[in-house]
Amino acid sequence: MTNMERLQKIIAQAGIASRRKSEELILSGKVEVNGEVVTELGTKANPEEDMITVNGKPIRSENKVYLMLNKPKGVITSASDPEGRKIVSDYLKGVKERVYPVGRLDYDTEGLLILTNDGEFAHLLTHPKHHVPKTYLATVKGVPHGSALDKLKNGIMLEDGMTAPAEVEYKDVDTASNEAVISITIYEGRNRQVRRMFEAINHPVIRLKRISFGGILLQNLKRGLTRKLTKEEVNNLITLAKSEPAKKMKKR
Ligand code: URA
Repeated sequence: MTNMERLQKIIAQAGIASRRKSEELILSGKVEVNGEVVTELGTKANPEEDMITVNGKPIRSENKVYLMLNKPKGVITSASDPEGRKIVSDYLKGVKERVYPVGRLDYDTEGLLILTNDGEFAHLLTHPKHHVPKTYLATVKGVPHGSALDKLKNGIMLEDGMTAPAEVEYKDVDTASNEAVISITIYEGRNRQVRRMFEAINHPVIRLKRISFGGILLQNLKRGLTRKLTKEEVNNLITLAKSEPAKKMKKR
């Protein structure tokens, strides 16, 4: 049986670039199939049998791997750190494929981080137009009034513009230590967004933990450990990312 696929899909699935960037690579003559430059976008190839190169380097169609890590705080979501701080790959010693994070968590944020070598999957989940929900538990200074939380629910002005509506709920209030734990679900992924949202209502975040990504739950995975996503979880994430934005948002 032949296993012919569009060249841009093969390149994206090999984790080299997004589908769109892969198309650009083809159009700009950087891709060869069996020694011949291919610049036509509809071209199909067999990833198992054809020799496909990008910028002269053969692509390997690795096994697709989908993992979640319970990232501890004090760890950088990147492949290296010039300052020698801990990086997420320090927690992936047993993983032989070259996986990378889907989106990022701040150095001080802990919790659910998905990692994969499937470029197309990563692109799908991080593209802003797909509005994938992410839920965080934020421990904040002071106990915000309901009216302050309503501002977060409805959208609040940050220096890079209004935030989209969010779901916000009290989880715990500790009057003795003057702290509250608030669950917040956002559908965007701006830099330090949750921290900036709480700063904007004058309740700075003390601790931030992501407990869900696209409906996938961290549950009781121990800090610093990984587990593979099930096929069902991977398929659910793909379906969710492709669904209409309005369907992802709970009715308020
Ligand atoms: N929002 C933040 O402020 N930090 C994160 O790490 C993720 C979302």
